[in-house]
Amino acid sequence: MPGVIPRGPAGRSAPETTAIPAGTVRDTRGRPLRDLRISVTDRCNFRCTYCMPRELFGADHAFLPQSALLTFEEITRLARIAVAQGVRKIRLTGGEPLLRKQIESLVGMLADLRLPDGQAPEITLTTNGTLLARKARALAQAGLSRVTVSLDALDDALFERMSDSGVPVATILAGIEAAADAGLAPVKVNMVVRRGMNDAQILPMARHFRHTGHILRFIEYMDVGNTNGWRMEEVVTGAEIVRRIGAEFPLESVQAHYRGEVAARWAYTDGGGEIGLITSVSQPFCGDCTRLRLSPEGRLFTCLFAEQGHDMRGLLRMGADDHALAQRLAGVWRARSDRYSEIRGQAHREHKIEMSYIGG
Ligand code: GTP
Ligand code: 5AD
Ligand code: SF4
Ligand code: SF4
Repeated sequence: MPGVIPRGPAGRSAPETTAIPAGTVRDTRGRPLRDLRISVTDRCNFRCTYCMPRELFGADHAFLPQSALLTFEEITRLARIAVAQGVRKIRLTGGEPLLRKQIESLVGMLADLRLPDGQAPEITLTTNGTLLARKARALAQAGLSRVTVSLDALDDALFERMSDSGVPVATILAGIEAAADAGLAPVKVNMVVRRGMNDAQILPMARHFRHTGHILRFIEYMDVGNTNGWRMEEVVTGAEIVRRIGAEFPLESVQAHYRGEVAARWAYTDGGGEIGLITSVSQPFCGDCTRLRLSPEGRLFTCLFAEQGHDMRGLLRMGADDHALAQRLAGVWRARSDRYSEIRGQAHREHKIEMSYIGG
C-alpha cells in the first residue's frame, strides 16, 4: 500500500484514470478477474441450519450497523473500477440482498456501467425468494438480467425445518414465477443437497422443474464457514445425483457456455429442459475461478473460503482517488493464489468467512 493516498475530485472520475487495461490483471495462477460478487447485507430472514443456525444467529447476534455498510455510491464506484479491469458479471448476494432497502436503485446504478468495449455487464442476484414476487418487476425495470433462487425442498415441513422460517414453499414458487414473468429468465433454482436431510427431494424437485424453463441446479454441500458442522458423509456427489435423476429421466451432458462456468450442464433427452450440477467438493473448479467477492462493509475476498479480507472502505472514506482504488484492487487480485476446494483435505482453516456474510 502506498503511504500517501492521492485525493481525487469530489465528483465521479472516469474509469480511464485507472490506467489498468481490462483483462490484463492476472492472479498468481494466471486467472483473470471476470466476476464480482457483491454482498449487500449480512442479514437474512431465514435461519437455514447449515448457514445461519439460530443458536448462533439469534436475537442477540450483532449484525453490521447501517453506517458500516458501503453505500450504493461506494459499491458502484468499486464496481466501475472492477468493470474497467475486466469484470463482466456482477452478482448481488447477502445474506438476503432483497432485505437491503431500495436495492433496485443499486441495480439501476450498476446497470449503467459499461465495459471498455461499450457493453453492459450482466447484473444478477441470488435470493431466497421470499420478497421476489413483490420486487421482481422493479428489479427487471432497473436493469437486472436474471435471478437465482435458493430452494432446498418442495415439501413444506422439510423446507420450514431447513430454512427455520415459517415461510411456505408456495411463497418461493410464486417468487420464481413472478421473476420469470418479469423477464428475469431463465430463473436458476439452487438446491443444496445434504444426505439424510433433503436428498429424498432430488427427484420431486427434478419432476417439478422439468418443462418449466427454469434451470434447477444441485449444489454439493460445502464446508463453508465455521458454523455448519460439515461432514463429508453428508455430501451427495453430482455424479450420484445425475445417476438418480437419469434412472427416471434420461440425461445427456451439454457443453459449458464458457470456460469456468460453475455448473456442469445436463439436458433431459426428451426436451424437458436442463439441470446443473455444482460439484465444488467432488470436482473442484478452482483452476478457472475468476470470482472476486466484496463484503457488505467493503472488504475484498479472493476466495469463498478465505479467512481474511482486504479493506477498501478505509480507502474510500479517506478520499482516495480512482487510481489508488484501482491499484489496490489490482494488487489484491495479482497476489491471489487461492484454490481451497482443490486442497480441502490439507488446508486447515480456523476462521473461514461465513456464507451469510459473503454470499454464495
Ligand atoms: P450463473 O450460472 O451465471 O448464474 O452463476 P453461478 O453459477 O456462479 O451462480 P450462483 O451464485 O448461483 O452459484 C451457485 C452456487 O455455487 C453458490 O451458491 C455456491 O454454493 C457455489 N459457488 C459459486 N461460486 C463458487 C466458488 O467460487 N467456489 C465455490 N467453492 N463454490 C461456488
Ligand atoms: N454449501 C453449499 N451451498 C451453500 N449455500 C449456503 N451454504 C452452503 C453450503 N454449506 C448456498 C445457498 C444459496 C447460496 C447463497 O449459497 O443455498 O444457494
Ligand atoms: Fe439466508 Fe441463504 Fe443463508 Fe439460508 S442460505 S440463511 S437464505 S443467506
Ligand atoms: Fe474459487 Fe476459492 Fe471456490 Fe476455489 S474454493 S472455486 S478458489 S472461491
